[in-house]
Amino acid sequence: MAKQLDTRIYTMPTNKEKFDLLAKKNEETLVGGGQKRIDAQHNKGKLTARERIQLLLDEGTFEEIGKFVMHRCNDFGLDKEYYLGDGVVTGYGTVNGRLIYVFSQDFTVFGGSLSETHAEKIVKIMDLAMKNGAPVIGLNDSGGARIQEGVVSLGGYADIFYRNTMASGVVPQISAIMGPCAGGAVYSPAITDFVLMVENTSYMFVTGPNVVKTVTQEEVSAEDLGGASTHSTKSGVTHFACANEVECIDHIKKLLGYMPQNCEENAPIHPYEATKEEVVEALNDIVPDNPNQPYDMRDVVDLIVDSESFLEVHKNYAENIVVGFARLAGRSIGIVGNQPSALAGVLDIDSSKKGARFVRFCDCFNVPLLVLEDVPGFLPGTDQEWNGIIANGAKLLYAFSEATVPRVTVITRKAYGGAYDVMNSKHIGADMNFAWPNAEIAVMGAKGASEIIFKREIAQSEDPEAKLQEKIDEYTSKFANPYRAAHRGYVDEVILPQDTRIKLIKAFKMLENKVDTLPRKKHGNIPL
Ligand code: HXC
Repeated sequence: MAKQLDTRIYTMPTNKEKFDLLAKKNEETLVGGGQKRIDAQHNKGKLTARERIQLLLDEGTFEEIGKFVMHRCNDFGLDKEYYLGDGVVTGYGTVNGRLIYVFSQDFTVFGGSLSETHAEKIVKIMDLAMKNGAPVIGLNDSGGARIQEGVVSLGGYADIFYRNTMASGVVPQISAIMGPCAGGAVYSPAITDFVLMVENTSYMFVTGPNVVKTVTQEEVSAEDLGGASTHSTKSGVTHFACANEVECIDHIKKLLGYMPQNCEENAPIHPYEATKEEVVEALNDIVPDNPNQPYDMRDVVDLIVDSESFLEVHKNYAENIVVGFARLAGRSIGIVGNQPSALAGVLDIDSSKKGARFVRFCDCFNVPLLVLEDVPGFLPGTDQEWNGIIANGAKLLYAFSEATVPRVTVITRKAYGGAYDVMNSKHIGADMNFAWPNAEIAVMGAKGASEIIFKREIAQSEDPEAKLQEKIDEYTSKFANPYRAAHRGYVDEVILPQDTRIKLIKAFKMLENKVDTLPRKKHGNIPL
């Protein structure tokens, strides 16, 4: 049979019509999974992916990449459901004038779940960030792997994990968790440098409450299992728990201000005017006369650094150590301080891990380190030993030892035992070590030391109590001061507390061109 002639007339669209099609598609991208789902997102107290990007970036600087990308899955009805962008908004822009790359998952499209193409979009901006040396910010809000896609989605996750690892130490990576983050999806944020969570609307766990109940019979809410307060106090997985999304994004911007764009650069220097007295007499009154009385190391920090420049990291986790960024005469520094007001500032497993992770970030990205030391030693006990204080304490020791950035220590009071060595001592490579006149630098406290080394003498004495006191006094006068260490050069200078700020400004200025390298190796083997 002869083929019927097709008599329909095709008219080529005009350019105007083509332009209109583009405008229509562009408009379509703006509504993600539709107004109903956007309203649902808002009703949960959450912003949309695009609103978050708008808050993060300088006005008008966002350039989107891949906005017309669509998934390629034909299973489970997905061949009938497409959304331009496929559940993630990606691109670049500036924060305070500095380039960053960003991805923001769109929960209104398949619950922000990660498909093959969604992953490809994230990978694309990560590759650009690596080649161009700028930070990657991930705004996570996702139901995890796109269930309809199966292994393809898992592959997409692995492509991201791999890049997170390759980018580690090359460009800063920051993850904000602004909704669910479940399953293996948590491992991308975990590899990045800083994790921020929003209270009550975000959670992170490897398996959710239902699976937990089935496997371990524990009943736990999503919030208790993996909410912001759990991860900022118990697990330490998140560095910042923020009251809401606006605060979270504000924190990201602040954090970025302390770090360079990549490992080859230095952090931006802020204009500094000497608005504050460089001699700070109030520092003389912080450490109490009684060596066993606590004080807040944050007060010391605030008086030393530029006004209101301290940004504490991991504030509510392992509170016996304080870490965070600050500025000294306009320059970014990382601070690690023992905290006498929590567990007397003792080093334990969590505080060692917290300190080590922070030291390594600073060293990766050329942020000089200031250590404020008041440490009675490592925490004894079966809990600590059985859970590996040896390997975990060694992390902090290792992290300081391999750090090549300028490193300065101020011993404000106690520096006892192994903790003296660990807390950025001269012996493990610190550049300048100061001590205040009330510093106590010894193997252990006078009482413990006397009870061991004078055990027999005390036991044989007619008045053991008086003898013990005599020995304590002797040990105290010999070692409870900074001069033994200063005689040996382990302490470079004993200074009045009031001069600390000026001494540190000068020391870090003197060290600003420091060049130090590690022995040639593939990489070290930190006791993980
Ligand atoms: C596809 C998903 C999805 C997913 C949610 N959606 N998760 N689509 N894949 N993983 C869709 C829903 O079908 C729904 O579509 C929309 O997103 C919103 O989901 P709701 O359930 O209505 O929202 P909510 O009640 O807020 O609950 C959110 C949620 C829940 C807690 C995230 O959706 C959930 O439990 N999802 C599954 C989580 C999960 O098990 N993911 C796989 C983890 S394993 P409609 O059309 O109704 O809007 C994993 C492996 C990674 O990720 C391994 C890497 C190594």
